[in-house]
Amino acid sequence: MVGKELGYVADAIRRGCSAGDAEFTQKCHRLLEEELGVPRAFLTTSCTAALEMAALLLDIRPGDEVIIPSFTFVSTANAFVLRGARPVFIDVRPDTLNLDETQLERHITSRTRAVVPVHYAGVGCEMDCILEIASRHSLAVVEDNAHGLFGRYKGQHLGTFGHFATQSFHETKNFTCGEGGALLVNASEYIERAEIIRQKGTNRARFYRGEVDKYSWVDIGSSFLPSDILAAFLYAQLEAREDIQARRKRIWETYSESLRDWADANDIGLPTVPEHCEQSYHMFYLLLPSLDDRQALINHLKRRDILSVFHYLPLHLSDMGRRFGGRVGDCPVTEDVSDRLLRLPFYNDLTEADQQEVVDTVRQFSPALSISATA
Ligand SMILES: Cc1ncc(COP(=O)(O)O)c(C=O)c1O
Repeated sequence: MVGKELGYVADAIRRGCSAGDAEFTQKCHRLLEEELGVPRAFLTTSCTAALEMAALLLDIRPGDEVIIPSFTFVSTANAFVLRGARPVFIDVRPDTLNLDETQLERHITSRTRAVVPVHYAGVGCEMDCILEIASRHSLAVVEDNAHGLFGRYKGQHLGTFGHFATQSFHETKNFTCGEGGALLVNASEYIERAEIIRQKGTNRARFYRGEVDKYSWVDIGSSFLPSDILAAFLYAQLEAREDIQARRKRIWETYSESLRDWADANDIGLPTVPEHCEQSYHMFYLLLPSLDDRQALINHLKRRDILSVFHYLPLHLSDMGRRFGGRVGDCPVTEDVSDRLLRLPFYNDLTEADQQEVVDTVRQFSPALSISATA
């Protein structure tokens, strides 16, 4: 917590307007719109819900294809599969682990409707190239920006490139309200319908603005909006964005500086952030030489009570992915990094002393020693 969360939550409860779209939700909307320069921001109950809204707004139907990196969270694909689309999984670049834009065009067919770049770890995808290809083939672009709030690509905020972008405020993210998200609508023609779909398919928002004298069912939709109590918690976090980002920058740079020589000496990869990308400082990961080395380092850290985690399992090789035709070898980079990637502890309240202990413990580890220890 950064300080004002509980006061704002108490305020939201005291006002007696704790349902969605009350005072704090509006404050979050305006802050996101002004900071990012997007036409409309809508808080949602999760990034998953925002992705589902994007699929509804694009009228995705059975038979449509949506291009998605295999190296991402389940929801990036599921939101479109729920509408009957076939996910077409493509591989990621070996440096940033973002959708490999050089492979995009050859995955486009007459059925392709959208492409979903994921800004992995809050480092921007190659948006110039992706947008150019998408525009040439009349495809919608939905940025899954779950990790990347306030990151930039060539000076422009992530989340402002696609027709839509989706944000996550899950507890694991830089800014959180436990569970939460947002849909950013950049293509203004979708704003009115987004408002309706988010409010159970009703024109309730127009009613609240006094534009209609009663509200009714006008379209499909669902309940995608969070309680104002959650928005109150989130608003305190968003207000403290500079402080939060400064803390995370310091944590990221400490890992990078303290582990660089150890990583080089042990053939271990560290995150790549291209010059033209300002990252969001969402995570710090290591790329170990092999799956066995990763397991050995997880065990080594666990012995000191340090929790390290890995992700993502390649979506094309999951049970669902295989039902859509995924096979071993389809996305070799994803299959490789998914075995070797390890995330180090990274949260806003990580103290310098605790981080130093993580660094010292990591530096005691050597893949070569782990092999001889298990041989
Ligand atoms: C890339 C990506 N997209 C979407 C999500 C889903 O976010 P949420 O938990 O807010 O639904 C996640 C979750 O971590 C994610 O990593």
